[in-house]
Amino acid sequence: MNGPAGTPAPREGAGGSAASGPPPEPSGAAPEIVTTPDAGAQPAAPPAGAAAWEAPQEWSAGGRLPRTGGDRSRPEGPRAASLAITAAATVPELLDLPWDVPLEEWPERNLASLPRGISRHVVRFAHLAGAVVAVKETSDHIARHEFHILRRLQRLDVPCVEPVAIVSNRRDADGQELATALVTRHLKFSLPYRALFSQQLRPDTLTRLIDALALLLVRLHLVGFYWGDVSLSNTLFRRDAGSFAAYLVDAETGEIYPELSAGQREYDLEIARVNIAGELMDLMEGGLVDAVDPIETSERIMDSYRRLWSELLDIESFKATDKWRVAERIRRLNDLGFDVEEYSITTSPEGTSFLLQPKVVDAGHHARRLLRLTGLDVQENQARRLLNDMDSYRAANCPELDEDYAAHLWLQQVFEPIVRSIPRDLAGKLEPPEVVHEVLEHRWYMSERQQRFIPLSEAVTSYLEDILRHRRDEANILLNPDTRTLAVLSTEDD
Ligand SMILES: Nc1ncnc2c1ncn2[C@@H]1O[C@H](COP(=O)(O)OP(=O)(O)OP(=O)(O)O)[C@@H](O)[C@H]1O
Ligand SMILES: [Mg+2]
Repeated sequence: MNGPAGTPAPREGAGGSAASGPPPEPSGAAPEIVTTPDAGAQPAAPPAGAAAWEAPQEWSAGGRLPRTGGDRSRPEGPRAASLAITAAATVPELLDLPWDVPLEEWPERNLASLPRGISRHVVRFAHLAGAVVAVKETSDHIARHEFHILRRLQRLDVPCVEPVAIVSNRRDADGQELATALVTRHLKFSLPYRALFSQQLRPDTLTRLIDALALLLVRLHLVGFYWGDVSLSNTLFRRDAGSFAAYLVDAETGEIYPELSAGQREYDLEIARVNIAGELMDLMEGGLVDAVDPIETSERIMDSYRRLWSELLDIESFKATDKWRVAERIRRLNDLGFDVEEYSITTSPEGTSFLLQPKVVDAGHHARRLLRLTGLDVQENQARRLLNDMDSYRAANCPELDEDYAAHLWLQQVFEPIVRSIPRDLAGKLEPPEVVHEVLEHRWYMSERQQRFIPLSEAVTSYLEDILRHRRDEANILLNPDTRTLAVLSTEDD
């Protein structure tokens, strides 16, 4: 979606328009791959062999990349004819993609044949080294800006799609220039919001989506990212223990500052509200949601965002006798999924009370604890759910053991057996931690219904046959969309 102030260019519709036939052999001079350093590392100098215009230069600067790169500064001569790939890691298979063909005409054998979401640019999903990547054709400057921003967001540990490469200096067989391509890894098990509306929706799904987007926006604002185009369609959603986790997919309009002002944050929120209202009207027109009030529902993003922001960062005043309020505030933030890395306590100007303010808060409280105990890397709500189960497992089976050892036993006796029991043909339905979460829920419901202890193996069998088997495949919902999903996505042709 576009920000309210933007003038939208025509968007690409859905439906494959891939030409068939074998891809022409890449033409022109030998391509050059520049691998940018691993995430986390700050390059002291451009990598050997990299021309100045090939890689983002302002690694530590906030805000947009200056427009010093691009075509104007490209060196003349034979180099100008050579394909240039700036990659986040070495992926030699990138060279196998037909970069000398406009993306719209890529042969089907390179494409993961799936309908596309709404976008101004040409976006296609392509097979790359056994995985799927999204390829977006855009201007050289925008591709570099977005690649650079996505890499910085990744280092800051904010949920976003993973940048793979920029492919520039493309030319077709006749030597005509082609647009630069930005390649990102397809986010597995993620769902564009429209695809979520293609199946039966619980009434609160919409509010959960909006809450997930509000949390993402808070996390982005905390690291100084101004999005400029917040919308449901610029976000991807993954299931997260009954809720959703939101990931940023389109960083084109984003800028990173040392800190955002209240005005910048409010402006982003206003863009979010207007865009979401428009998207809801769209869904209603297509008969995809029951009548909701689009304006009122879109305002939920503001409430949800502001509640969370003030819980995280507001100054709290307490009397000297109420020192427990510090621990209480930290516990509340942990419950919300945040760790408090730094806080300040000052005395009030009158000297009668203390002022407490969290200064540095870091999302992922439960995910970090689960990772430390078990090595499992899952989303926040999944981690919260699994930790609860692990804690009750320890209380019931081995209260005398220390936490680390009990975690190890739980992994061996609960988590791993469930994951191992998922038959191969059902493996694409849901990601494994989500299956474990659902099995645990299912077991609880079974024991409630039948008023007896349900062994784990019985719960697993019942869940696999009665529930999982009947779900659609979410690993590749867009690769093999069912007819209803196709119908939903093809409305974007309009
Ligand atoms: N890495 C990815 N994984 C999964 N889906 C992706 C990925 N990259 C892009 N997409 C899909 O392609 C769509 C369009 O991508 P994107 O929003 O970046 O294009 P755009 O042309 O910049 O959009 P806009 O019209 O908002 O400017 C996204 O909404 C998303 O559904
Ligand atoms: Mg977009």
